[in-house]
Amino acid sequence: MKKILVLNGPNLNLLGMREPGVYGSESYETICGRIAGEAEKLDLEVAFAQHNGEGALIDELHGAMGVYDGVVLNAGAYTHYSIAIRDAIAAIRLPVVEVHLSNIHAREEFRHTSVIAAVCRGQIAGFGPDSYLLALRALKGILEPAR
Ligand code: DQA
Repeated sequence: MKKILVLNGPNLNLLGMREPGVYGSESYETICGRIAGEAEKLDLEVAFAQHNGEGALIDELHGAMGVYDGVVLNAGAYTHYSIAIRDAIAAIRLPVVEVHLSNIHAREEFRHTSVIAAVCRGQIAGFGPDSYLLALRALKGILEPAR
């Protein structure tokens, strides 16, 4: 069974209470539960990690090598400026799908740029918690293409 790491960045531990008008009212734990349910349906093994610090996220990406087959990554605000996270994604050579709950392209100008997009397999943004479920489906298709 393919193993997927769902990695969340800064402030995403506060989902549910954090700007609910933008990010919805479901908690981080509830969303992880939904992702786990979808993973089961797709026959994928899933693990979760969340870090607020850039270095911890980079360490988690390095640690994913040889352990996981793919990564779903919501890098939070680091998406917009962390060249270090971009380089880590490029270095590990695992398929990484970039995810955002909100449609970053419809928000403030500074959120329109993703410095990680070019090294990710694709970007899913704007579908709330469903963005994570769609990313799992994308990884399923990448890792186990239908013949
Ligand atoms: C986010 C969008 C980012 O711009 C923001 O900094 C976040 C969350 C999202 O999931 O919509 O922390 O990645």
